Amino acid sequence: MKHLHTHVATNPTHTRTKPRTHTRPFGRAGTATGNPFRTMRTPVHRATTRNLQAAYPFIVDSALGSHGVYVGRQAGSDASFVFDPWELYAQNVITNPNILLAGVIGRGKSALAKSVALRMTAFGVRVYVPGDPKGEWGEVARALGTEPIVLGRGLSARVNPLDPGERPQGLSSDEWQREVLARRNSLLASLAETALDRRLQPVERNALLVALTAITATSDLERGPAPVLPEIVAALMNPTDETAATLSMTARELALDSRNLALELRRLVVGDLAGLFDGPTTHQLDFNAPIQVLDTSRLAGDDTAIALLMTCASAWMETTLAADASGHDGASGRSGRRLVVYDEAWRMLRHLALVRRMQSQWKLSRALGVANLAVVHRISDLGAVGATGSEAVALAQGLLADCSTRIVYAQESDQVETTATALGLSDVEADQLVHLPRGRGLWRIGRHAAIVDHILGAAEWPVIDTDARMRGDHR
Ligand SMILES: Nc1ncnc2c1ncn2[C@@H]1O[C@H](COP(=O)(O)OP(=O)(O)O)[C@@H](O)[C@H]1O
Ligand SMILES: [Mg+2]
Repeated sequence: MKHLHTHVATNPTHTRTKPRTHTRPFGRAGTATGNPFRTMRTPVHRATTRNLQAAYPFIVDSALGSHGVYVGRQAGSDASFVFDPWELYAQNVITNPNILLAGVIGRGKSALAKSVALRMTAFGVRVYVPGDPKGEWGEVARALGTEPIVLGRGLSARVNPLDPGERPQGLSSDEWQREVLARRNSLLASLAETALDRRLQPVERNALLVALTAITATSDLERGPAPVLPEIVAALMNPTDETAATLSMTARELALDSRNLALELRRLVVGDLAGLFDGPTTHQLDFNAPIQVLDTSRLAGDDTAIALLMTCASAWMETTLAADASGHDGASGRSGRRLVVYDEAWRMLRHLALVRRMQSQWKLSRALGVANLAVVHRISDLGAVGATGSEAVALAQGLLADCSTRIVYAQESDQVETTATALGLSDVEADQLVHLPRGRGLWRIGRHAAIVDHILGAAEWPVIDTDARMRGDHR
């Protein structure tokens, strides 16, 4: 990954400790040139750690490096704070580029995610937002010259979570066939387990697999249309004698045993949730754009339904991304670095099956240069509320371990102990959590820590300030 940073000049005599915030209004991104970031100036700052340490010896941690996008100032000092998860990963400061951002409502989590995303696009990072339940990333997309894909009842956009994506180079047809089958199967199983609120029975698990196999057996992954959810539901409801026979059952027995599974998946095909994920994809991702946003704010339903819909949306984007990363990057010379932002991820992460799915997704994404950023309210959103030794606890710990960078914004007092234990905070650090003001976060990067005030640039305000948009004015 070293070559990704050659555009950042090194200047060992650089002594500036004040942020250089030469923000200009965001121009329309020049996507035609493949260099969308050229037209946009965001606050970029660099200082040698030696100088920063001289300025603030007890807080500034030289291991955190001096390359990256400017985030803000270290609290109580004049020292700038910059961040680049790929660089820190390449230097073994952290073991993965993923980020967990936790904090109560309204303290500036989304503002931080948006401004870090905006600033990163200036370095050629491409940003993907697979779910935007509050519809607040559209402005960010427009500032970078792209329109969000809006999903909602009565709208034309539809995405198929069963899309296979493109065959990665180096995979044979057979291998790929198996891979796509496994991916579809695990997505459907996660959706069903979440909807049923229990693990699938062995019969149901097998029913799903044989239904999928039956539907896709004759189709050509590369040319034929991808299967759609209604076909899966129909196959589960009316298994053929042949599929049932592979499980030594009659069609009637199999249909009965997979009935609840079929009925729960049917929610995505009829009623409130219909028309969004149950047909062929209408809008493809634009890989040349600096950012792609799937606006899910028009999706209605209960909490579980929203979590299911967000999962479908992210599954689709993740598949498409994986294909792009393996298929096109080398040839086009585009930066392979991607930031995938799961804003309001707590909705998905409250469901064990979805945590499981997300964790395996993140493991895959690391090889593709993807940094995932998940925004939650509290650490316990990861499903950590479970009996000692339970799967919930193990999963929460796993996902936490998969986020080498943890940023904690203000927490409710009843969350302080859990947070401190999970992140290994000192008493002094833990005491701060309840009182952190807007925009201030405790950053744990690998073994290192810093308290950082996120500073918004003048040009970012109109794009990021959700409060102002609600008031109908701009600062
Ligand atoms: N770093 C900051 N400095 C000043 N104001 C901020 C900052 N971050 C956020 N805000 C203000 O707080 C509001 C709410 O922030 P938001 O990011 O939507 O919170 P969250 O996502 O944590 O609920 C923003 O619209 C903005 O007006
Ligand atoms: Mg938010």
